[in-house]
Amino acid sequence: MNYFNELKTLLDCSSAPYSGFNVASIVVTKNGAVFKGVNVESAAYPTTNCAERNALQTAITEGTKSGEIQEVHVLARNAEKTLVKAYPCGSCRQVIAELSANEAMVFCYVSATEFTTHSIAELLPNAFLGAEL
Ligand code: THU
Repeated sequence: MNYFNELKTLLDCSSAPYSGFNVASIVVTKNGAVFKGVNVESAAYPTTNCAERNALQTAITEGTKSGEIQEVHVLARNAEKTLVKAYPCGSCRQVIAELSANEAMVFCYVSATEFTTHSIAELLPNAFLGAEL
């Protein structure tokens, strides 16, 4: 399913007073449940939370089990208010890989008709999934 319209609306919930870069993410589980997240920035910059991890952590909080994340959808808007394609950052890729048993598909949008899809294994090759721990 295409989540562009929901993501575009969700961008207005993003709190990004420092970068002006709004990010919205929607994750879909194997059961078809849908969870939303936006980036929330902090004056202590590293304390900022990314949209993708906020959506993933909400999914877990609401009862989704590790391995059940199937899709991660992402849309961003820059400080000039232009919609731009954004790929998940390295930290988000790690969490997507872990919570999807390395099987999630990531959808990166620019418009309703322009988006690319990527497997998490493509975005994070040779992921450390914790089996060695
Ligand atoms: N950001 C995300 O929310 N997701 C990403 O994958 C890339 C970066 C946010 C963090 C920060 O609030 C802003 O974008 C600029 O880095």
